[in-house]
Amino acid sequence: LSEAQAKAPRGTFDVLGQEARARSAIEAKARSILEDAGYERIETPCFEATELFARGVGESSDIVKKEMYTFTDGSGRSLTLRPEGTAPVCRAYVQHGMHKRPQPVKLWYLSSFFRYERAQKGRYRQFWQVGAEALGSEDPALDAESILLLHHLLAELGARDLRLRLSSLGSPQARGAYREQLKQHLQSRQEELSEDVRSRIELNPLRAFDSEHPGTVAVMRDAPLLLDQLDAADAAHFQEVRSLLEAAQVPYEIDPTLVRGLDYYTRTVFEFTSEALGAQSGVGGGGRYDGLVEQLGGPRTPGIGWAAGIERILLAGSPAAPAPAALDLYVCVQEPAVRRHAFELLWQARSAGLRAEMELAGRSLSGQLKQADRHGARFAAILGDRETTLRDMQDGGQSEMAAETVVHELLRRLRTLS
Ligand code: HAM
Repeated sequence: LSEAQAKAPRGTFDVLGQEARARSAIEAKARSILEDAGYERIETPCFEATELFARGVGESSDIVKKEMYTFTDGSGRSLTLRPEGTAPVCRAYVQHGMHKRPQPVKLWYLSSFFRYERAQKGRYRQFWQVGAEALGSEDPALDAESILLLHHLLAELGARDLRLRLSSLGSPQARGAYREQLKQHLQSRQEELSEDVRSRIELNPLRAFDSEHPGTVAVMRDAPLLLDQLDAADAAHFQEVRSLLEAAQVPYEIDPTLVRGLDYYTRTVFEFTSEALGAQSGVGGGGRYDGLVEQLGGPRTPGIGWAAGIERILLAGSPAAPAPAALDLYVCVQEPAVRRHAFELLWQARSAGLRAEMELAGRSLSGQLKQADRHGARFAAILGDRETTLRDMQDGGQSEMAAETVVHELLRRLRTLS
């Protein structure tokens, strides 16, 4: 292997030690918060038909245009490593006839996703998201619940300096009319725009709001805003979402220029950012996608959801990862001949529910006791060819006993200690 090949591919990483424990803690918190709110776990395949994302996420999005890991399998099918989870969840909703269940159907996931992006801190080519999707109701209370759940999760995980930005994109019709208006505005001031924005006036004029190019920023300052043009039903829906957030006392900012990078959104869109993150400030975001299920060939079904990046949650300040649990017992062997007995004792201890390990690296007895200490073992059993010694690793006290009685004695002592 070359030097580069001997490392994890660019934009990917191994998860070990402290970080693995921190991730488990995030998963446990997400499970408890989401399942208590009626969300059920779903996992979908790592890859799907390319067309699912082309249609679902949208041909004009950066994701579909340049970030997908697409390959052809042995039978010539075009498949894509999932860049996001909403389109696959909608595909599963249709495939399993979930519209026949009582609505809304609430699903959550914690999985890895793939985007061919420029790798940097907080932006990877394989990354993890925790996500929640609720399908089958357009009640604005579901929007508010969804946003509040993400807020609750991020707050519980200790994410610092959070801001919630909120907007509404209205219905596809209102958005269509607005796009035309925005295109006209952009065309009328073409020469002030960046090359990139100018080339995308037709395909995706809304992305001009994302630009940091000074000329474009000036043009966008005078641009018409979709939020000012919502029809009555969309405006009332948005108003209700806002008042429910206010009732819950969760602060938010209205940002009429909030553009999410995926094409399926309708009505409510939102994003949580954290100052702690620097350039890649988005911790999590989502919104409504009332047309997506139908677009994928299913019945008309509204939906709302979000996803938050696990790596970004970690960067924004996660809960202290719990230390690995200390051992109850470390089994030491005085000579190789007793290894079989040691192995038996190890499994007796584990069957009794104790956290136990045995010596597996051929250390001397003093090396074994050091290893027991490193593991924080409460007791060590030292097996000799005749007797077994049980050593209290805290006070150094030792007593001899028959090997068969060690577990019984250990349980008794641990009980009195607790
Ligand atoms: P998204 O905004 O593309 O939305 O991604 C959601 C979150 O995933 C981001 O806020 C960020 O924390 C994390 N993320 C995205 N790309 C990367 C990356 N390259 N490296 C590290 N983290 C990343 C969605 O994916 C939608 N499916 C969310 C949604 C669910 N909307 C409705 N339901």
